[in-house]
Amino acid sequence: MASPDQPDRAAWLQGPSAQCNPRPQKQDNPWRLILLGPPGVGKGTQAELLHQQLHACHLSTGDVFRAAGGRHECDLSPAIKAALEYMRRGDLVPDSIVWEMILERSGCLRCGGGFLLDGFPRTLKQAESLRHQLENQGITLHAVVNYELPINGIVQRLGGRRTCKKCKAVFHVTERPPKIAHLCDRCEGALYQRDDDRPESIKVRLVAYEEKTAPLIEFYRELGLLLSISAAGRPEEICARTVAALEARKTKSAFGGARSG
Ligand code: AP5
Repeated sequence: MASPDQPDRAAWLQGPSAQCNPRPQKQDNPWRLILLGPPGVGKGTQAELLHQQLHACHLSTGDVFRAAGGRHECDLSPAIKAALEYMRRGDLVPDSIVWEMILERSGCLRCGGGFLLDGFPRTLKQAESLRHQLENQGITLHAVVNYELPINGIVQRLGGRRTCKKCKAVFHVTERPPKIAHLCDRCEGALYQRDDDRPESIKVRLVAYEEKTAPLIEFYRELGLLLSISAAGRPEEICARTVAALEARKTKSAFGGARSG
């Protein structure tokens, strides 16, 4: 979603032929982070807040699929049509489709503004592919922020989520309600409940997370990149906690040599 100081992520959401407006500002030492955690833990909410502090761009794979889903049926490739069906059910989209989409957008990984990857990687295969891609391009990943919250909190967050149709801003019926019911605070677009936030899809997503994504915690721990953060409390508190942990890690790496990754 675009705001005066936030890129519209056009190159990410629409593909490499589109140009972000405004173009992300080149940073001296851009942050390159992965946000990990179960569905609904608040990764997207944190990505928005972290963007304001760290200036890195929010790159969500779920947002790319949802943006494609908003296009006319005839404009969708068979692969994207299949991906949307997996997503509606709450299943993971096959690795091959996800990876093709990432490769197409690899310019966003090289962007001088840095990145906050949200929802990718989600399987060990995706994590290995990303690792090779970054290594081949000489791009350093600084940390993998793993958000943690008990399951009942997650289900409560997912069940109450409402998303703006127009700018994709995220609200919650009780925790982050819009000022005017059913309307987005930013652009007055209509708020809707995502298809995959229905109870039957939530169950499938949580199982997919446990089976396919949770093993990434150990993968990144072994690489020395994991930073676990409690996702309890207000979004602003969680963001402050994250930034403090990232800064502490940066200082520690500066004393002990280069940033790990
Ligand atoms: P994706 O869009 O990535 O969804 P997700 O990972 O399931 O995460 P969510 O967007 O549901 O939650 P979130 O953690 O971002 O939480 P949010 O900030 O919105 O993926 C969707 C689907 O696409 C997948 O199921 C899959 O099919 C497919 N897909 C995408 N990437 C893929 C990949 N790499 N491989 C395979 N398939 C892929 O917050 C949730 C709610 O809680 C909101 O209402 C928010 O307002 C509220 N909230 C947030 N923080 C707080 C807080 N601190 N206190 C109270 N409420 C809060």
